[in-house]
Amino acid sequence: AAERVVAELREQCATPAARLDGVAAAMEEEMRAGLEHEGGSKIKMIISYVDNLPNGSEEGLFYALDLGGTNFRVLRVQLGGKDIKPESREVSIPPHLMSGNAAELFGFIASALAKFVADEGRSNGVLNGRQRELGFTFSFPVRQSSITSGTLIKWTKAFSIDDAVGEDVVAELQTAMEKQGVDMRVSALINDTVGTLAAGSYYDEDVVIGVILGTGSNAAYVEKANAIPKLEGELPKSGNMVINTEWGNFSSSCLPITEYDQALDEESLNPREQIFEKLISGMYLGDIVRRVLLKIASQSSIFGDINRTKLKTHFILRTPDISAMHHDETPDLRVVAEKLEENLKITGTSLETRKVVVEICDIVTSRSARLAAAGIVGIIRKIGRGTAGNKEKTVIAIDGGLFKHYGKFRQSLESALVELLGEEASKSVGIKLANDGSGLGAALIAAAHSQYIN
Ligand code: BG6
Ligand code: GLC
Repeated sequence: AAERVVAELREQCATPAARLDGVAAAMEEEMRAGLEHEGGSKIKMIISYVDNLPNGSEEGLFYALDLGGTNFRVLRVQLGGKDIKPESREVSIPPHLMSGNAAELFGFIASALAKFVADEGRSNGVLNGRQRELGFTFSFPVRQSSITSGTLIKWTKAFSIDDAVGEDVVAELQTAMEKQGVDMRVSALINDTVGTLAAGSYYDEDVVIGVILGTGSNAAYVEKANAIPKLEGELPKSGNMVINTEWGNFSSSCLPITEYDQALDEESLNPREQIFEKLISGMYLGDIVRRVLLKIASQSSIFGDINRTKLKTHFILRTPDISAMHHDETPDLRVVAEKLEENLKITGTSLETRKVVVEICDIVTSRSARLAAAGIVGIIRKIGRGTAGNKEKTVIAIDGGLFKHYGKFRQSLESALVELLGEEASKSVGIKLANDGSGLGAALIAAAHSQYIN
């Protein structure tokens, strides 16, 4: 029975090149529709108001807040020169604040910022006669009305705070900072993908796409302003505009969706939303594997006579656990045994059973990586890059725990890119890890929009 469950899973999760081509084409089509007018597509194609990427002339001391990944970060960055070393502090957001109210969440963030600044031991508020300035990376879908304002469209990932939806997140942050006595101006509000793109392009001007493969998944890229019908007013001088695609909400009949994905979606905080993200990102992969294991436990006896309470607990198996099992190179798959015991209270498994578990991790993760590659190819095609005759180099900056820490995921993504683009054309495409780039990106964009530049 276990074999049957795995065979079905393998079949349902299959992503042969033809299917991925369909996903890339559907992504490209949705991107166009989303650029046409507001609400034109499930992918929002958000105008970021970033029309210039950093050019190296950015200078001065800037701060950044980075909210939305595994950790919340406060950073201080001295810009000028290529060797920038942001100083940062990581704080984890207490889970109850992710579903509480907006004032509490923003209060928490502002107080972390206040402590960070207080620890500098300089006078609060003004620096060399200037007000401190801040770039705010807020990694959720925001309808921006300028580089310094935007209203939250909806929460994604593990956040769900009703009274923040529809509110201007910069105004909320400013209010919270005032309460904490922090005198800082928010000079830029950006998405983490936009920050990753900006930081990536600071070091390598061929970077035109920024992708996050972490707790959530999303991509931003440089679009021609005249290819954005919904862009109102005068076109930016640069002729470009960075678009935050919010591809996590992509869905299409060509996606390989299983009963496990459907159940995960229905029981999630945001049913019927973020379907692509739920197939791809780190928040969900472990839970998909758990659901398959639960099915096997209920239909076969390969796990022995176990108490299924743990196996029934949502999110108890996390993506770092499945990564550890997937990379287990011990002859008897000892790591798999340990993880099963530690997390799920499954003991005494045979080597055969452990192999089954590894295979499930492999099926779920390679589907994820290959779909992410198809999304990237959709963007590459949208901007007319990555073809055999293409002389321009196209580099994609990628950040996020899934990409950083899950080697087999990364390999699978890289090989799927070559498979889709073709050996020759893929030579003009490169991918690059942009480690913690989005905080630096926020500081760079804040510098470009500083109140002290005219
Ligand atoms: C970080 C960025 O490096 O990657 C964050 O600075 C981003 O803004 C994050 O959200 C995504 O990674 P994860 O794995 O923590 O969700
Ligand atoms: C979610 C958010 C998106 C963010 C991504 C990666 O998809 O909606 O804004 O970029 O996660 O953190």
